[in-house]
Amino acid sequence: MKSDMVPFRMAGNLYFVGSRNPSSHLLDTGDGLILIDTGYEENAEMIVNSMKTLGFDIRDVKYIIHSHGHGDHTFATAKLVELSGAKTFLNSADIRYLEGRFTPDFDIKAGDIIKLGNTEILCLHTPGHTEGTVSFFFNLEENGKVYRAGMFGGAGTNQLRKDYLRNKGLNTLPRGQFLKSVERLKREHVDIFVGNHSWQNDTLGNYKKSLTSDTNPFIDENRWGKFLDKITVDFWNVIEEEKTTHFINYAHRGASEYVPENTFLAFYTGVYMGANGIETDVHVTEDGVAVLFHDDTLDRVTGENGEVAKKTYEELQKLFVTKNGFSDKIVKFEDFLDRFSFRDLTFAIELKQKGTAKQVADIIRKYKIEDKVVITSFDFESVCDMSEYAPELRLGFLTEKVTDELLEEMKKRNISEICPIADIVNEENVHKWHSEGFNVRAWGVADEEIMKKVCNAGADGMTVNFPDKLAEYIGTVK
Ligand code: G3P
Ligand code: CA
Repeated sequence: MKSDMVPFRMAGNLYFVGSRNPSSHLLDTGDGLILIDTGYEENAEMIVNSMKTLGFDIRDVKYIIHSHGHGDHTFATAKLVELSGAKTFLNSADIRYLEGRFTPDFDIKAGDIIKLGNTEILCLHTPGHTEGTVSFFFNLEENGKVYRAGMFGGAGTNQLRKDYLRNKGLNTLPRGQFLKSVERLKREHVDIFVGNHSWQNDTLGNYKKSLTSDTNPFIDENRWGKFLDKITVDFWNVIEEEKTTHFINYAHRGASEYVPENTFLAFYTGVYMGANGIETDVHVTEDGVAVLFHDDTLDRVTGENGEVAKKTYEELQKLFVTKNGFSDKIVKFEDFLDRFSFRDLTFAIELKQKGTAKQVADIIRKYKIEDKVVITSFDFESVCDMSEYAPELRLGFLTEKVTDELLEEMKKRNISEICPIADIVNEENVHKWHSEGFNVRAWGVADEEIMKKVCNAGADGMTVNFPDKLAEYIGTVK
């Protein structure tokens, strides 16, 4: 294969030896070569030739490291190993994408440092694009100065579209990790952004500039941050494009069936699975911080003893909520709103602790999202407190039993949403509650059968631990 790119030295001991799509890079460590990503099968010959042009011999490649397992980064590897005897590296979660072409010699784990000669490569696990995506960071010396290079191992968002994942028989769970990975990467300082596709850092354009410029155009400490901002926008656009209806599919404590409840991981996963609403629970810590936590006690989800309301926020920050091998931190209510308040989502905020209504209302007013929230509780008194203090807010009451007396009491207090347990939601009841002027939103949806029953009864929404299945059923996603 003839490359549509030219091989060239990018900066320090880093060389570009790839194609336009995908890129491959070579590090000359002084004690052997490291190749980062290979490409489709036909790229093998091109890489060998590119190396020759630059004065390198394929037999000197000691390590081949992969940003992730997709074939456009890995399928040429088997041939290059045959020619070089190099050892191969890949996060083991991505072996499935190799289709048996080779077996990696080393599993790249989060925080690993790959060392060879004068080069150390820090590997950060940044899942999303695939489960096993890894991003690389290393230093390059140019004209006596040291610069930090960084590669985001999986930045493309098209591969995270529902249609794509469904056609490939993959689930949507990793999508929930994508923006968390982006946020992690934003904390890294990068002077030289190395793309694993040439569109990411305009490899060809900057190479051309370098031919006539006195300075190295690849050195730009702002390019990394700008790129991460751009793909964040790309990603939310994908999510918006996939929405088609306005029935409210609330991810209950986030996508709590799959990942740790009431954490950023759960909220992101829920939204990326097709939820257009997020349900969450508020407690207030001993030092007065509103946090998102369901139980009064810590043990069920963190394994620690004690009550949330008797811990300080700082103490809670040391804990991890875990589920299915995932873990994430307890979230401050305001941090949640910092990230989600401006999104096209509805928020069902449940008061879990008496006497917290004012504080919650003040936070909602601060973020100016009065028209996007519904405040609920199983505790009628708490909903009434809210009705008195913040009459502008939409209110709902969670209950296992709906009586005419209750509905009358709710009307008096301007509580406009009835939130019945799913078991008592049927067409007749929904019709009655609607005709009395209530919005109907169910909770306690134990399985798909009940989920379908609630949809078919004509309710306006539900909280569900598996928003992917609901999205699939009602068509909030294409
Ligand atoms: O949708 C309301 C639901 O959250 C009530 O149950 O136990 O999750 O607070 P729970
Ligand atoms: Ca709740």
